[in-house]
Amino acid sequence: MNRQNIDIPQTSIEDQRRYIAEINEITSKKDLKYHIITYGCQMNVHDSEKLAGMLNTMGYTETLEQNKADLILFNTCCVRENAELKVYGNVGSLYTSKQQNPNMIIGICGCMMQQEDISHYIVKKFPFVDLIFGTHNLHHFPRLLWGALHSSHTVVEILDKEGLIVEDIPLTRNLGVSAWTTIMYGCNNFCSYCIVPYVRGRERSRQPIDIISEIKQLSEDGYKEITLLGQNVNSYGKDLGKHYYFSDLLREIDDIDGIERVRFMTSHPKDLSKDLIMAMAESEKVCEHLHLPIQSGSNNVLKTMNRGYTREEYMDLVNLIREKIPQIAVTTDIIVGFPGETDIDFAHTLDVVNKMEFDSAYTFMYSQRTGTPAAKMDNQIDNKTMKARLQALMELQNKISRNINSRAHNQIVEVLVEGLSKNRNDMFSGRTRSNKLVNFAAPYDVTGKIVQIKVNKAKTWTLEGVMV
Ligand code: 5AD
Ligand code: SF4
Repeated sequence: MNRQNIDIPQTSIEDQRRYIAEINEITSKKDLKYHIITYGCQMNVHDSEKLAGMLNTMGYTETLEQNKADLILFNTCCVRENAELKVYGNVGSLYTSKQQNPNMIIGICGCMMQQEDISHYIVKKFPFVDLIFGTHNLHHFPRLLWGALHSSHTVVEILDKEGLIVEDIPLTRNLGVSAWTTIMYGCNNFCSYCIVPYVRGRERSRQPIDIISEIKQLSEDGYKEITLLGQNVNSYGKDLGKHYYFSDLLREIDDIDGIERVRFMTSHPKDLSKDLIMAMAESEKVCEHLHLPIQSGSNNVLKTMNRGYTREEYMDLVNLIREKIPQIAVTTDIIVGFPGETDIDFAHTLDVVNKMEFDSAYTFMYSQRTGTPAAKMDNQIDNKTMKARLQALMELQNKISRNINSRAHNQIVEVLVEGLSKNRNDMFSGRTRSNKLVNFAAPYDVTGKIVQIKVNKAKTWTLEGVMV
């Protein structure tokens, strides 16, 4: 079903050129600026780079000041409810600006829009919104924007099904040393709490040749670090029918000149094969960092979450990885308060966290997502219990992170410098291969360089030091 409520013709990708040309006509007469607000994961940030790329092709220029923008675009996330509440709050606050400047275009796109009924709710609650579209028709943005510029109604187009992968969407990446490359879209796992498979569709891998040529181009453009993105990168290639898998891709990328570091996320424990561990160990450029969400340390909870592994299997896997790659930093995601989670289940989570000594963990309170099996379970956990569990988990993890980081004190670490530090403009910042953020003083601009830093202060989330 195509939930489309105004008559805008469907187009092939080639036909988009006409819309791009027509919008260029408009922007050539008037200097139009855009501002994109992105919520959620790296995948969304990367989609915003595509939206920015298309806007630049259409003659728009970016402004970092929202109040100077002629087009404000919200690229939304729906993984947890609080991400959605933020969007409603921020869109609502534009009501007055839109009255003062009716020519301003307000658009909302991304995962949240793929959910049943959300677009209807937005059209009703925020009728001043000009454009609503989903994740599956991002590449149709020029046509949709053209529609919004020419229509007095809200343009809504959400496709319920993913299409083929569209290559060659122009991209405007954040300038810097690191770039993201999507290697696959969607997810087939249907963890019972998670909305992602419903809004991002089934797993689709990009062709290796497209990925490799994009990374070669990134290397030529001066990028030094590549992060391969996908909801479940470990199952890359399984849909291609070529006997070419994630480990093969890593090995091939390892040979690309100019790229110094390769990262990837996210991994799923049930799909992380021994072959992949060996490819990580053998590939020089693949960094010693693995983000491996465990979600819970209780076998009962893991089962109802539909995660496909036990706590023992997870721990064996991490132990194997640490044996093969001793320097590796392991980080994770953990949800507390999944329906039916007992005090004993939660104690099992704390126990695994204690045993595994993760370098860091993203910790979340379970959020009920309409349409997922867990949302219908009748043993939902109350907010107070969830908060207390989250607090206890964070305290434990912070202690572990601080302890691990303190081992870096007085050590020399290799840092790829991203630029000036966001919080301290007398310092530069960058990351170690194990993905630790390091702030440090340097006598000259070392942005983009790999430098050696002697750590003189270890905090819970960052390290500080001086260049040696
Ligand atoms: N509630 C809380 N956390 C969630 N995540 C995914 N869905 C939910 C939900 N419904 C978390 C998982 C996932 C991370 C990206 O977000 O931990 O790994
Ligand atoms: Fe969501 Fe599970 Fe897929 Fe991750 S693996 S995106 S948690 S369904």
